[in-house]
Amino acid sequence: MPPPFRSADSLYEARRSPVLSFLTPLRNFRTLEAIDNKMQAVSNKLAERLGDAPTVVSAEYQPRADGAKMRALAWFGTRDVRLIDAPVPDITEPDDVILKVTGTTICGSDLHLYHGEIVQLQQGDILGHEFMGVVDRVGPNVHNIKVGQRVVASFQIACGECSYCKQQLSSMCDRTNTSGLQNAMYGHRDAGFFGYSHFTGGFPGGQAEYVRVPKGNVNLLPIPDGVADEKALFLSDILPTSYHAVVDVGVKKGDVVGIWGLGPIGQCAARFALMKGASRVIGIDNVPARLAFAREKSGIETLDFSEHTDVVKRIQELVPGGLDIAIDCGTFHQPKSVLHKVEKALILETDVSEIVNEMIVATKKMGSCGIIAAYAGFTNHFNIGALMEKGIRLIGHGQAPVHKYWHELLAMIEAGDFDPLFVVSHRVALEEFPDLYASFDKRLGGVEKVFVSTKFSNPPSAGAPPLSRVADWGNEI
Ligand SMILES: NC(=O)c1ccc[n+]([C@@H]2O[C@H](COP(=O)([O-])OP(=O)(O)OC[C@H]3O[C@@H](n4cnc5c(N)ncnc54)[C@H](O)[C@@H]3O)[C@@H](O)[C@H]2O)c1
Ligand SMILES: [Zn+2]
Ligand SMILES: [Zn+2]
Repeated sequence: MPPPFRSADSLYEARRSPVLSFLTPLRNFRTLEAIDNKMQAVSNKLAERLGDAPTVVSAEYQPRADGAKMRALAWFGTRDVRLIDAPVPDITEPDDVILKVTGTTICGSDLHLYHGEIVQLQQGDILGHEFMGVVDRVGPNVHNIKVGQRVVASFQIACGECSYCKQQLSSMCDRTNTSGLQNAMYGHRDAGFFGYSHFTGGFPGGQAEYVRVPKGNVNLLPIPDGVADEKALFLSDILPTSYHAVVDVGVKKGDVVGIWGLGPIGQCAARFALMKGASRVIGIDNVPARLAFAREKSGIETLDFSEHTDVVKRIQELVPGGLDIAIDCGTFHQPKSVLHKVEKALILETDVSEIVNEMIVATKKMGSCGIIAAYAGFTNHFNIGALMEKGIRLIGHGQAPVHKYWHELLAMIEAGDFDPLFVVSHRVALEEFPDLYASFDKRLGGVEKVFVSTKFSNPPSAGAPPLSRVADWGNEI
């Protein structure tokens, strides 16, 4: 059997593998891209037929009257993202805020878009759901945010008034996502998200010099002067996300916790699990730099799934009674087994159940497993028997409700109880985005979280990484 794929290119690799040699046309990269782009076209057509679900915000923005242009990163096809000159947004609805972006980043979730694995993407969509900035303009209904203020945006666009928003479950907002397709597939729909395809509303994102924030009263958090940009930015997603996973799955004192995936989400979840009193945390991945990072920076145990291909057996050796808690912080586009590679390549499944199955079998009877990693569609070979017979509590955490946690997390940062800088490995300029997508996808150069600066950014603050070029990171994984 070939070794497990390390890069997130595995869908492509799988389709090109000898196992699929009978499908010669699929072994051609351009054919693969054509198939993926066709899938986007079909999903967009279907969405058009289903019609838009009602919302209280519009995704389209009004360009500024002076015709000013900005640099932005846009999606054009599978593994094809480009910098474009786009119109600078202006106040379009009375609740809008326009931000000059001073910090943005790339997320493991952006890789799902890069791989064309989230539907309803359209050419020219501006990506980016994690960003902060300085307020440039405010609409007439915006009262709690002032021009010139430093703020961080939540990755989701909450209306602030529906039953979910009232409980601070902002990612579940009922009134900001137009996707009738998501409604049809899931029975309900998430909130609208910035820069995350028309499946989550089609809002232009923050991997840009300016961004329009709808419902600005609700979706921006002012940042105190004492908190550096490189710490504040991550309140937009990865800190609330990893914290939500740990809280929602119920990590408590003395628990032995397994964390699948040691990207930024897994690294932060490991820290939060320790803060909640976990007695042991075992991180599972196969990227040498990420395994070393987790051991050296957070002092957790690690399990390299390239070395221990039977992950469950290794966990049973390390923790004979089984894990108390398992958390999926991995990614659904890296199948390991030939079966899943073939099925995914032939689109007989869209997602892969391997991590969830490993978690269910490695966790003790009546233990809990949580899924914070993003999944999109359907999977085969799910071990429903083990789930039921062992009484495993399997929890889908959903997209994290940022508003529920960002005040608490900001307080932790201000008090010095949690320092997000530990996970920030690099800083690059906005113009580097296309290279950054490719290198982050392949986990090159010890990359974890990256601070992406714009022409409006402050210089790096004390302890934060200096500006670098992606081309200089090297090819080490
Ligand atoms: N629910 C939310 O609100 C939310 C928010 C942000 C990110 N996410 C999701 O969280 C996940 C992690 O995000 P990230 O930014 O850390 O991504 P990332 O892509 O940087 O990291 C994923 C890690 O998982 C590892 N991995 C792949 N297959 C594995 C396997 N079989 N077993 C163990 N590890 C495996 C990879 O090597 C990689 O290091 C992604 O799926 C992302 O979409 C969810
Ligand atoms: Zn994200
Ligand atoms: Zn709402």
